[in-house]
This record gives sequence, C-alpha cells and structure tokens, in this order.
Amino acid sequence: MYLELDGQGPRYAQLTRGLKQAILGGRINAHSRLPATRVLARDLDLSRNTVLAAYEQLAAEGFIEGRVGSGCYVAAIGAMQAPQPVAKAPARSGAARAPLSRRGERIRELWDRRIPGREHIGLRYNLQYGMPMTNPQLASAWRRELAHAAAHAQTDYPDPQGLLALRRQICDYLARRRGILAAPEDVLIVSGAQQAFTLAAELLLDEGDRVVLEDPHYQGERQIMQASGAEIVGCRVDENGIVTTDLPTQGRTKLALVTPSHQFPSGAVMSLARRMELLAWAASSGCWIIEDDYDGEFRYDARPLAALKSLDRDGRVLYFGTFSKVLFPSLRLGYIVLPPGLRDAFIGAKWLTDRGCPAIEQAALAKLMADGAFERHLRAAAKSLKARRATLLAALRKHAGGEVEVGDSSAGMHVVAWLTRLKLAQARQLVARAKERGLGLYPISPYFLKAPARPGLLLGFADLPAADLQAAMRILGECLREI
Ligand SMILES: Cc1ncc(COP(=O)(O)O)c(C=O)c1O
Repeated sequence: MYLELDGQGPRYAQLTRGLKQAILGGRINAHSRLPATRVLARDLDLSRNTVLAAYEQLAAEGFIEGRVGSGCYVAAIGAMQAPQPVAKAPARSGAARAPLSRRGERIRELWDRRIPGREHIGLRYNLQYGMPMTNPQLASAWRRELAHAAAHAQTDYPDPQGLLALRRQICDYLARRRGILAAPEDVLIVSGAQQAFTLAAELLLDEGDRVVLEDPHYQGERQIMQASGAEIVGCRVDENGIVTTDLPTQGRTKLALVTPSHQFPSGAVMSLARRMELLAWAASSGCWIIEDDYDGEFRYDARPLAALKSLDRDGRVLYFGTFSKVLFPSLRLGYIVLPPGLRDAFIGAKWLTDRGCPAIEQAALAKLMADGAFERHLRAAAKSLKARRATLLAALRKHAGGEVEVGDSSAGMHVVAWLTRLKLAQARQLVARAKERGLGLYPISPYFLKAPARPGLLLGFADLPAADLQAAMRILGECLREI
C-alpha cells in the first residue's frame, strides 16, 4: 500500500491521519482488510510499533474493526466514504482564499489593508501611541487582586452584563470623575471599546446606513463601521472639535462617533457650544451618538472635563469607556453606559457573542477600584504623564522648534506635531530615516479619510522616560534637518 505521510508530528499520528484520509476519500473501501502491521511497516519503512499504534488509534475512533494484530477491516461509515474530488493544489503564495460572505470579504480586505501598528516595537526609542505606562505599584496591586480573585473564582458562566460589583464601582467612578450619573443596570461590561463598536454596529446599522466619523478619527472604529457595510461620512475637526455645520441634514444618519474630551488624534477639546449643537442635531435627526471617552481622565492644566453624556437630556448618547489607557490594553475590559431603550438589545448581543467577559479579571478590577488602588494609580499616572509631556514639548521646541507646529490640548498620552516644511512624501522619508537611527515615528495621515493638507506625526509619550524622550526629539530634529 502506498501512503504519503505529511511529516507533521509523531509518525504514528501521521500514519493515522494518512489512513483516515484514505478511508474517508474512498481510496480504501469499507469492509476491505487493512494490510498486516508487519507488511505495512515494511512498505512504509516504519517500525511495527508505529503501525500498531496507528491501527489502535483508528480502532478506538471507529474507523476500523477487528482485532489489531489478527486482521483489521475498514468500518462502513456511510456517506463520508464517497470518493472525494481531488482538492486543488493551494496557490504557491499560500492557501487559496475561500469565498466568504459579503461582510467576510469586507473584513478580509480590512485585514489586508490594516494600518501597521506597533511596527517599531524593537527600536530604541519608540513613540508608539497607546503603549501603557509602567507603574510598579499598580503591577503589584493587580497581581494581589488577581490572585485573590482566582482563589475565590466563580466557575459558572458570569452575568453577561458584567459583574455587579464592577458595574457599581464604574458608576461611582463615573459620577465622581466624569460627571455621569448612571445606575449599574445602565452599564454593560465589554472586552474593550473595540467590542463596544462591534456591538453598536451589529445592533444599530444595516448595510448602506450612514455613519458620521470625525476626520481624522480612530481607525479601529472606522474599520468596524466599514465591515458592517455602512456609508461613512467624515466631518472636519477644528480646535473646537467636530465642525457641527458639516453634519449631514439630509437623509437618515444612524450613528455619529465622537471623542469630545480629547479628539483622537488631533487633540482638540469639543467646546460647550459644539456639544450642545451636536446633541440638538442628534435629537432632531434621531441619530445615536457614540462618545468614545478613551483617555478623558488625563487632563493636565485643569480638572478633567465632564463627559458629553452628562449633558444628554434626550438619551441619545452611548458612552464608551475603556481600561486600556487608564490601566493597560491587554486587560481587554471596557464598558458602555446605555440609554434605557438600548439596554436589553446590547446585553443580548453581548450574551450571544461570548456569554460575558471573564469573571476573574472583572472581580480583580472591582476590588482594585474599591480598595482605592485604581485612583492612586490614576493620580500617579497623571503626574508622571504631565511631566513626560512637558519634557517632550520642551525637547521638541529645542530640537525641532522651527519645523513643527504642535497640536496639544494639555491632555491625553500623545501630542501631534505638524510638519510645517515637509510634503507628505518627505514625511515618509523622515519616518524611514528615523527608523535607521533607532527612532520609531508614526505619521498621522492614515487616520484621515480625506488626506490632510500637511503631514504630521503622532507622538506617544506615555511609555518613555524623560531621558529617552529628549534623545528621541534630538534624533527627530537631526533627521528633519537632513531632509
Ligand atoms: C480613540 C480610541 N478609541 C478606542 C480605542 C480602543 O480601545 P480598546 O483597547 O478598549 O479596544 C483606542 C485604542 O487605542 C483609541 O485610541
């Protein structure tokens, strides 16, 4: 008998797989006798024990009958044994791509065209936005809470809406620091803002529905909206946030996504007048607003601004919070504060998707918040981020003062440096040259729907100590002068 083994894993497993494929593909017929183990071992140049082990495995799984060692016969397993068409050889560049649903095709295309994130991770100075800030006190408090939560873990499925203890803590936090009055019934725990976008698209959008995005905006939200087949309309952003006169007045817009506390990525803070105009527009057009409050906690020259949600009298705002910036992104926990009319549907969608977020992490987080370690971390993080931002800005002025204009609103974990003397193509050259010198830079252009008039860089500063930020800005200045 001739069989080709696939070379993966132990020999007996390769032989088992080869024989199964031959049986299922109809190359070995039902009721036929398999070769004696000694014969097959000789034919395939295997040890007899290997063949014995494969036959025993096939017998255990019901593919063959009889006594291993004294005649084994292929079992009759019905329709599965119909001869299979010969599979087409996969394309040389990799496996052939299977056809997908319309949505699936859109997702695959988004994956192919994704913005390469964290591509400079290995470089000496990496100004990647969104890197978590290291805090040893937080790390040890988190380890303690996690161990405690694991020891007392509930093992049944969690409440799909999220642990009540965590929802209570979030409500307390929101009332104290974000001006939002919410009850635990209004809160849904999700695995990060990304899942919140996904649930919103699933529940609120049909293909072809219109969605408003700020331009520029966070690419993760745009990708979800594109995957759902929505028509995307970009609205300009200026120093007061989204330009409300750009909001569509004709036709039906279902959703508008905004970052009022700290526009991503431009850094603008939405003025009160714009907030009121946006809410009035949503009420009159029947549109839902998603407030993505990803880093509204971190303001350095004043107290954090109250969230847009705190002004929402008509119940049009879905408030999205995430622990990715205030703690760290690998946690994958966030939450939505829902208007009452959307509560059941969102909890249902979360339940349908994954039956709820992991209970141990939720319990540990609730305890971290209840014990005050979370707020201690927020205070320490804000202090340290403020100092790093000041260092970055001073070094940027010193080394590249004449070449950049800074878009900064004294908030968040990044600043935008607009390159006043470079063209878009030269900015690409700058990124490449900086990379050769060990500096990871990230252009702002991929965050726009409509190409920006001038190039800019997104400078994430959370993860780098002062000396590194100074060195990074020195290299940036040198590269700018070279170009
Ligand atoms: C503006 C903005 N919104 C949302 C997110 C996503 O957050 P999460 O990690 O909770 O999915 C990010 C992540 O970087 C972000 O920058």
